[in-house]
Amino acid sequence: MSNFSIESLEKYFKIYRKSIKKPKKFWDEIAEENFTWHMMWDKVLEFDMEKAKFTWFKNAKLNITKNCIDRHLMKRGDQTAIIFEPNDPKEEAQHITYNELYKQVSKFANVLTEQGIEKGDRVCIYLPMIPELAYAVLACARIGAVHSVVFAGFSSSALATRINDSSCKMLITSDGGFRGNKVIDLKGIADKALEDTPSIEKTLVVKRTGKEVNMKDGRDLWIAPLLEKAAGESVAAIMDAEDILFILYTSGSTGKPKGMVHTTAGYMVYAGYTFKNVFNYEKGDVYWCTADIGWITGHSYIIYGPLLNGATTVIFEGVPSYPDYSRFWEVVQKHKVNQFYTAPTAIRALAKEDIHFVQDYQLNSLKVIGSVGEPINDEAWHWYNDHVGGKRCPLVDTWWQTETGGIMISPIPFVTPTKPTYASLPLPGIQPALMDNLRNEIEGNQVTGSLCIKYPWPGIARTIWGDHQRYIDTYFSTYPGKYFTGDGALRDEVGYYRITGRVDDVVIVSGHNLGTAPIEDVINEHQSVAESAIVGYPHEVKGNALYGYVILKDLGIDRDETQVAIEINRLISDQIGPIAKLDKIQFVPGLPKTRSGKIMRRILRKIAVGETKDFGDISTLLNPEVVKDIIKHRK
Ligand code: WT7
Repeated sequence: MSNFSIESLEKYFKIYRKSIKKPKKFWDEIAEENFTWHMMWDKVLEFDMEKAKFTWFKNAKLNITKNCIDRHLMKRGDQTAIIFEPNDPKEEAQHITYNELYKQVSKFANVLTEQGIEKGDRVCIYLPMIPELAYAVLACARIGAVHSVVFAGFSSSALATRINDSSCKMLITSDGGFRGNKVIDLKGIADKALEDTPSIEKTLVVKRTGKEVNMKDGRDLWIAPLLEKAAGESVAAIMDAEDILFILYTSGSTGKPKGMVHTTAGYMVYAGYTFKNVFNYEKGDVYWCTADIGWITGHSYIIYGPLLNGATTVIFEGVPSYPDYSRFWEVVQKHKVNQFYTAPTAIRALAKEDIHFVQDYQLNSLKVIGSVGEPINDEAWHWYNDHVGGKRCPLVDTWWQTETGGIMISPIPFVTPTKPTYASLPLPGIQPALMDNLRNEIEGNQVTGSLCIKYPWPGIARTIWGDHQRYIDTYFSTYPGKYFTGDGALRDEVGYYRITGRVDDVVIVSGHNLGTAPIEDVINEHQSVAESAIVGYPHEVKGNALYGYVILKDLGIDRDETQVAIEINRLISDQIGPIAKLDKIQFVPGLPKTRSGKIMRRILRKIAVGETKDFGDISTLLNPEVVKDIIKHRK
C-alpha cells in the first residue's frame, strides 16, 4: 500500500495510526518512494526535543531542484510548470514549461556561480512576484546557496536588518514592481538598505518596470546580459540532507525578527507530501496560491510543493482589487484553475464587495479551495464555500506556521468532512497536544488549551539563524519535551481542532504575523514618546488591527497629538513596513502595570474592544486610576 495519497477517511485513519505508531518507518517509506536521492540515509530520525536538535534522513545526499525539475523532464518536459499572470491583465500571461524552467534556473545558477556565490553563502532575494523570483530561489537551491527571500513590501531598514542578520553576500532585486495601480521602487528601497549592509558584495538587478534606477559601479549588475551569456544547463550540487536550504524571517513577540532555518531533505519530503494530499493535486491540474513568495506559504505552496509534484503553479503579480474586485475570479476562469488557495483577509475584503464580481465568472474548474494564515471566521467561511466553491469544492482550512515548514492540521479534500471554522484533523505524522496552565496535557475531547506538537515531523525548522538558544526558549521550554506553537486551540467532540488564535504577543494583521514588541520599539524612538503598548483588536477585513496606547514625554510644551500620531505611523512604515501601521492611537497618561512593572496587556486588549469592566484578576494592578482614564478617552 502506498501511503502517499490518501483517498478515503478509512485510509486516512489507518495511515494516521501507522504514522504515530511507527513514525520513522512511515517517513522512511514516503521519502524513499516519492523522491530522488543521490544517496540514501543511514537513519530516518535522530532528535532531542529539549535541546531542539533534529536530524532527518541522516547522511542522505540530494538536490531539491533535481526533485522539482530534472526528474520531470523526461515525462513532462513540455508541460507548463509556471503560469505567470502579470499585474496588468492586458499584459500577456506566460506559460513556462518544465524544459524552460530547467533552462532558466540553470542560467540563473550559472550566473550566481560566476559572480562568486558558493555553497552555503546567503543570498537575499527582494523581488516582486515575477518568474525571476522563482528562478532565483531555485538557482540558489541548485548550487547549494542559502536563499533568504524578503517580502517586497518590507521597508529598507527591515531589509537591511534581515540582510545583516545572516550576512548575505548578494542581493537579487529589480528596478521595481507593479502592484495594482502603483509602481514600487524596489531598487530605490534596496539602495537605501545597502548603505548599511557591509556583507553585500554584489547586487543583481532584474528589469521589470523599465524605470530608471541608480546602478552602483562595481556592485550592481543588470542580470539580463549575464543570463544571456550563461549556459542553459547545469549540474545540481550534491547536498547533505541537513544542509540549509533557506532562511525565512518571521516576527517574534520580542526583539528582532527570527531567521527560521529550514534544511533540505526534511523540508522537501514534508512540502511534497502535504501538497499532494491537502490539495488533491492530480496530473494536469492548474493550481493557484495567491500568497507572496516572500512568506512561507509561497515557499512551500507556490514553489517547492507544487514543483515537487510536477504540478502547474500560478505566480500572480497583482492584487485582488485591481483593475477591480473580480480579478481573482477572472484569473481562475482564464487559466481554468483547479485548486485555489488564499487567505481569510482577502476573502473578507472580497465578500464586502458586490456579489456580481464573483458571479460574472465561470468558476466551475475549481475542485478544491483553501484558506491559510489566520482563523477563518464563520461568515467568511460560508461566503467562500458558497460563492467561490459553489458548495461543491471542499474548503481546506490549513493550519501551520513558518516554523512548521508545511501544513500540519487540515482537512484532506473528499476525505475529511469539513466543518466551518475548523482546521479539523492532523495530517499523518503530526501529533498535536493541548496543554493547560499547569503544563499538563489535556486528554479527551471538548477541551481547549495551548497547542503543542509532541513529536518531530520532517518539516520542522532546525534553528533560528545565529541564535539556537532563542529557538529553544521560544518553542521548546514552555512545555518541556514539546514544540509550543504559540496558538490556542479547541478540540471538539469528534477530535476536530479549531485554532482560536495567538496566546502570545503576536497579532495577525491581514494574515501577516506581527510581533507587538518590535513595533513598540519603533514608536518609542519618536522623540516625544515615553512609552507605548500595542494590542490587536478584531477588524472586519484585516482580521485584526493594531491599537496603540502611547504615553508622551513631559516636555513642558503642548504637542499636536494628531501630528504625533501621523509621525508615529510614518516611523513604523519606514522601519517595518506599511502593514504594521496602527489603526488607532490613543495618548494616555500611563499604562496599567503590575507591581513588577509588567504591562497588563489583557486590560488594554479588553479596552480596545470596548469592554469597560470585568478585567479579571487585577489584584496586582498598581495604578487603577490610569485604567479609568484610558476607558474614558477610548478611541
Ligand atoms: C500563525 C503562523 C503558515 C502560513 C501563513 C502564516 C496563524 C495560520 C491558520 C489557520 C488559524 C492560522 C496561527 C499561526 N494561522 N494558519 N488555518 N487557522 N490560524 O504563517 O506568518 O508563520 O503565522 O498564523 O496563529 O501560529 P506565519
